[in-house]
Amino acid sequence: MGNISIRELSYAYQTDGNTLPILRAASLELPSGAFATVSGPSGSGKSTLLNLIGALDRPQHGNIKVGVVELGELSDWQLAGFRSRMIGFVFQSFHLLPVLSATENVAWPLYFQGIKRSKRMEIAREKLELVGLKGHLNKVPGKLSGGQRQRVAIARALATEPSVVLADEPTANLDRKTAEEIVVLMRSLNENAGVTFLMATHDPMVVAHALQRIELVDGKLIEQKQIQRQEVLAHA
Ligand SMILES: Nc1ncnc2c1ncn2[C@@H]1O[C@H](COP(=O)(O)OP(=O)(O)OP(=O)(O)O)[C@@H](O)[C@H]1O
Ligand SMILES: [Mg+2]
Repeated sequence: MGNISIRELSYAYQTDGNTLPILRAASLELPSGAFATVSGPSGSGKSTLLNLIGALDRPQHGNIKVGVVELGELSDWQLAGFRSRMIGFVFQSFHLLPVLSATENVAWPLYFQGIKRSKRMEIAREKLELVGLKGHLNKVPGKLSGGQRQRVAIARALATEPSVVLADEPTANLDRKTAEEIVVLMRSLNENAGVTFLMATHDPMVVAHALQRIELVDGKLIEQKQIQRQEVLAHA
């Protein structure tokens, strides 16, 4: 189950003896199967938030729950296991390994699950087919277009059958048409497989496709419907 529950989450960076608060007692509830965006100005903490949900960092205060797992209760070792089983990551610059073929890139995260090579490659081919890359299985990233590379990255994120995919500016390096194709693809994967997607983005087109729209404002997470409701109340 890919529901995400965030309670009173705070996070600050320490630099040169200064404390830079980023998240300030932020809370959020996302249902399993959400297709959500988190937007906000550059530096507002979107990537920081995704890193905390994906257990790349630990909260300083507050709780994050993904499915039934309370991240704060896990050891470092258990967090690594949580990350590899429950979370898929998609990045702005794709982060593919340049010497590996598309299939090998997608198969890579399965290596850490102790799955044998022939099975890993079979799963990878299946996922690449799902993202429309059946004809490009053996190409290295350098031989693929930006949109195709992001499709490989999405297939890789899905290889381990995660409950949640965290995508950090997934369309920022793509032209407009390709960007929209990528979002439509993610939405269809979300709809068909029930995987929760949370995307950090500046892109209004991505936000327009989202079912849940979250703003990161002064370290707080605000769902857009709440903003609208507040506006309605203000005018009542
Ligand atoms: N490791 C770090 N150490 C110190 N400060 C950091 C670190 N990582 C990020 N920051 C600062 O924390 C703030 C939030 O960064 P973050 O990357 O989460 O923002 P963002 O919303 O993702 O921005 P962008 O839209 O530019 O990607 C920024 O001011 C950034 O400079
Ligand atoms: Mg960022």
